[in-house]
Amino acid sequence: VRSSGAEAALIARFAEARGDPALVVLEGFHALKHALRFGARIETACTADLAALVRLASDLAPDLCARLRDTVEVPPATFTRLAPVPPATGVLAIAARPEIDPAEVLRQPGAAPIVLLENPSHPGNLGAVVRVAAAAGAAAVLTTGGRDPWQPAALRGSAGLHFALPVAGIDVLSETDRPLLAIDPDGEPLRAGLALDRAILAFGSERRGLSALLLARAERRIALPMRQGVSSLNLACAVAVVLYGWLAARPQADHS
Ligand SMILES: C[S@@+](CC[C@H](N)C(=O)[O-])C[C@H]1O[C@@H](n2cnc3c(N)ncnc32)[C@H](O)[C@@H]1O
Repeated sequence: VRSSGAEAALIARFAEARGDPALVVLEGFHALKHALRFGARIETACTADLAALVRLASDLAPDLCARLRDTVEVPPATFTRLAPVPPATGVLAIAARPEIDPAEVLRQPGAAPIVLLENPSHPGNLGAVVRVAAAAGAAAVLTTGGRDPWQPAALRGSAGLHFALPVAGIDVLSETDRPLLAIDPDGEPLRAGLALDRAILAFGSERRGLSALLLARAERRIALPMRQGVSSLNLACAVAVVLYGWLAARPQADHS
């Protein structure tokens, strides 16, 4: 970007993108790396040091070196105005947010379970859930409650893996033929052989756990046994345990 007019337009575009529900701002190398690998449509990517970015890519993601060479280099003073806290890895991008139809997600064929988070409150936790759901090959992450699952802090927490599977907010869980399992400390203990294919695995909020409504609707409640004195697992850890339990029980743990 050469002229100060172009720099001002870039600063305005990043500010605009943060308020646009059709766009997302990717903060940092890992978020952009995963977004690119999983097919995000990138509108603009900027860095204050193109040579350093290409070096980082050759170390951490050689598959993306060629594409990252097209990143727009801007003066450091401009770069710091593109994000409230500019990322240490020195790259920011604007991407199109995928349109997701939750009804379509529920109808998707295949054995992979869906993760349902009821009213999660910490965007970092939500991002960590998306990250492990993407890694384990879950079919989707759906969330209820007022918080946008694509907010920038959640995208940082997932390292951009929101682009690897459908992630969407819903008002309520609509009717579905998938089994609904409540993952709840007061349930029956998780056992090997529990049928999790195509399940909707519902996890509660960090403070309150699952609502009485969702517990009543679930066909089973499953607990992760804990040593006496431990109150609960972190939300993202609980999701990881259940998803990897499902994955380990599959005939071939091949989810490439
Ligand atoms: C931090 S916990 C919520 C703790 C909450 N005070 C409660 O009693 O449910 C967040 C969610 O993680 C899951 N979770 C955490 N530990 C669990 C366990 N030991 N067994 C089953 N689910 C667990 C549940 O879905 C829970 O709603």
